[in-house]
Amino acid sequence: MKTVPRRQVLRAFGLGAATVVVAGTGALGYRVYDTAALSPGQGDAYDPWRRWRDGPGLLGAVAAAVLAPSPHNTQPWVFGVRADAVDVFVDADRHTGTVDPFRREQYIGVGCALENLVLAGRARGLEPDVRLLPDGPAGARVATVAVRPAAPVPSPLYDAIGDRHTNRGPFTADPVPDETLAGLVDATGLPGVGVRWIADPAPRAALSRLLVDAAAALCADERQSRDNFAWFRPGDADIQRHRDGLTLGGQGFGPLKLAIAKLLPASSRTDGDRFWLEQTTTVHTATAAAYGVITTATPDDRAVQLTAGRLLERVHLTATARGLALHHMNQVTERIDREHAAGAAPTFAPRFAKLLSPGEHPLLTFRVGHPVRPGAPSPRRPATQVTK
Ligand SMILES: Cc1cc2nc3c(=O)[nH]c(=O)nc-3n(C[C@H](O)[C@H](O)[C@H](O)COP(=O)(O)O)c2cc1C
Repeated sequence: MKTVPRRQVLRAFGLGAATVVVAGTGALGYRVYDTAALSPGQGDAYDPWRRWRDGPGLLGAVAAAVLAPSPHNTQPWVFGVRADAVDVFVDADRHTGTVDPFRREQYIGVGCALENLVLAGRARGLEPDVRLLPDGPAGARVATVAVRPAAPVPSPLYDAIGDRHTNRGPFTADPVPDETLAGLVDATGLPGVGVRWIADPAPRAALSRLLVDAAAALCADERQSRDNFAWFRPGDADIQRHRDGLTLGGQGFGPLKLAIAKLLPASSRTDGDRFWLEQTTTVHTATAAAYGVITTATPDDRAVQLTAGRLLERVHLTATARGLALHHMNQVTERIDREHAAGAAPTFAPRFAKLLSPGEHPLLTFRVGHPVRPGAPSPRRPATQVTK
């Protein structure tokens, strides 16, 4: 059995795992199987992406809702399907710990699913009436969607649900004109939230620096780094069992780099941090055509967070329908919340505030651009597993 040192290969691909030396063909063979390197995106964990249009009625609409984005792919939602309504709950156990100390992102993720539910109801001839926090801020239901029969309303946003993926790969150097950016935002019926575009070179460079600094601070904070890594699913067995979390396939690699990454042993937390920081510097911020920031005057309001999720998903689906890539990048607001929760002096909040208008608070940040290659699907739990 021949032993293959992979240090140089790892370095060449910027995978940041230079200390790893992989064993020979036997171990490699296992790793091929474990990561499904030869058939990425396959298996039951990806089934929801193939079946989301098939189901009728409200359970069918939930099958579209589960394809929404969520922080670290935690899928923090539960749906109570009744004859003429769906109750929406937060699954409080599915969180990212110190990365999201106030569970702001958790509620936003549920808001994203709510938007898909609304679009999928309309496409099925079920006109939705959304009520947020119907039992008050402390109630178990965070939303209820009552429906009544109506003519089906197809829409490009609904059609984009199965093609929407977070794209962490490089974007091309082509700019995205201001009018194209403005056309990505339709906040009709979504009060209290808006989108600020940061596309001009100077403020874009300032936000890029902020994103790199926040990624470095997050990696240097051991608790945040551990909570960040906890949702990484290194192998196919993990992915098929949990059907959630972050995967190698979702990191935006080209096919060769992805195949090599999948043949390597599962990387450690510190290797993962180094890799993320390097990607943030050399790919994510270096190729962002523009940043979008969802802002509000009342960032702690749960209804506003749910509404921000609906707006975020609308922007992402519209970008998808128009052939643009979108990558969520929330390390700055995660550091703002972490500093606040820890009682530390704020360092990131004042820097972000300089890029916004007075009274405007950032809830979410993302970059947009023209993709070099399409984003890849991430695993999902099916509707039947998240309904009660
Ligand atoms: C509130 C929220 C915060 C997120 N923050 C980040 C982030 O900081 N970095 C990142 O790469 N992806 C982020 N994402 C994207 C999720 O990781 C992604 O939605 C999830 O892994 C599922 O993948 P998909 O969007 O391709 O379906 C975020 C998504 C949401 C809804």
